[in-house]
Amino acid sequence: MSEKSGLILELKTLQKKAESELKGIQDAVSLQSWRAAYLSRSSDIMAFFKRLSEAPKKERPMIGQFANQVKAALETQFEKKENIIKQVGLEMNLRNKRLDVTLPGRAPAHGRLHIQTLVLRQIYRIFAEMGFQVYRSPEVETDENNFELLNIPAHHPARDLWDTFYTTKPGVIMRTHTSPGQVRAMREFAPEPIRVALPGMCYRYEQIDASHEIQFNQVELLAVGKNITFGDLKGTLEEFAKRMYGEGVRTRMRPSYFPFVEPGAEMDVECFVCGGKGCSVCGEKGWLEILGCGMVHPVVLRNGGYDPEIYSGFAAGLGPERISMLRYHIDDIRNFWGNDVRFLEQF
Ligand code: DAH
Repeated sequence: MSEKSGLILELKTLQKKAESELKGIQDAVSLQSWRAAYLSRSSDIMAFFKRLSEAPKKERPMIGQFANQVKAALETQFEKKENIIKQVGLEMNLRNKRLDVTLPGRAPAHGRLHIQTLVLRQIYRIFAEMGFQVYRSPEVETDENNFELLNIPAHHPARDLWDTFYTTKPGVIMRTHTSPGQVRAMREFAPEPIRVALPGMCYRYEQIDASHEIQFNQVELLAVGKNITFGDLKGTLEEFAKRMYGEGVRTRMRPSYFPFVEPGAEMDVECFVCGGKGCSVCGEKGWLEILGCGMVHPVVLRNGGYDPEIYSGFAAGLGPERISMLRYHIDDIRNFWGNDVRFLEQF
């Protein structure tokens, strides 16, 4: 037997063996081992190319060509088998893990309005029924509007109550209350009568705790006209409390001081926790403060363009976060702007 036929025979035997093994293969893992055994660099077929030198020189091209044919044939068969295995796998998957279209779908998460948006809208609604319109004024204010024109001059000790955030522009600050909107509304409407609700965010330099935040909402109320009395103020606010908390709510007014009103007062609502007996939530007082109010100070009326000899007015400043806390028994003001959905989802 010549070297030529010897190598070729060997190749043929190898090819047969490879082909019969390939026939029996049913899965991708065995297919990969087969490939490693017969088609990788270290496989026997590749070894033939190195062994060509064993054959006589003139036979080498022929043997080489034959080895190439064997290799190509095995490669083709490999690819066929690979496709079949893939196809079978896919069909099995489709059959066994069929998509169950009868399963209920995933419900999309529903967004909702923030509790304070809801409470603010309720406040607007109540006051709208009494003829108050919403009037918006800027959150970034001048020192003049926030303090000076409200009868709080630069070195007035009352400024300590409204310590704020300053911008890099002198005289421009984050408003500490909605009261500067009073002056803006008066300057726009004077000498016409006014009934406005001024809502929005206010900012203060505060030590944050369960009842203090550096930002919070206020709703300012302003009525200016002829013959407006303290009785109008009291009636308006008591009616508001009833509509907000229910007919049975108990309220009281205490004298208080604010530079932009004269006389000034604060309104309290009976403590929801102890029912007026006194507890830790109300600081043993039995009452919780919800707003400051009073008759608009003559200086402020004049700054707004109204002659205090002819016109009078009342104003109030409500804390909507306070109002929500009372209504929904929320014990920490930080919940409002903490952005925790577990809190927000409850409303
Ligand atoms: N601006 C006051 C504050 O932020 C609240 C206030 C008190 C507003 C009395 C008023 C008022 O309009 O009459 O503390």
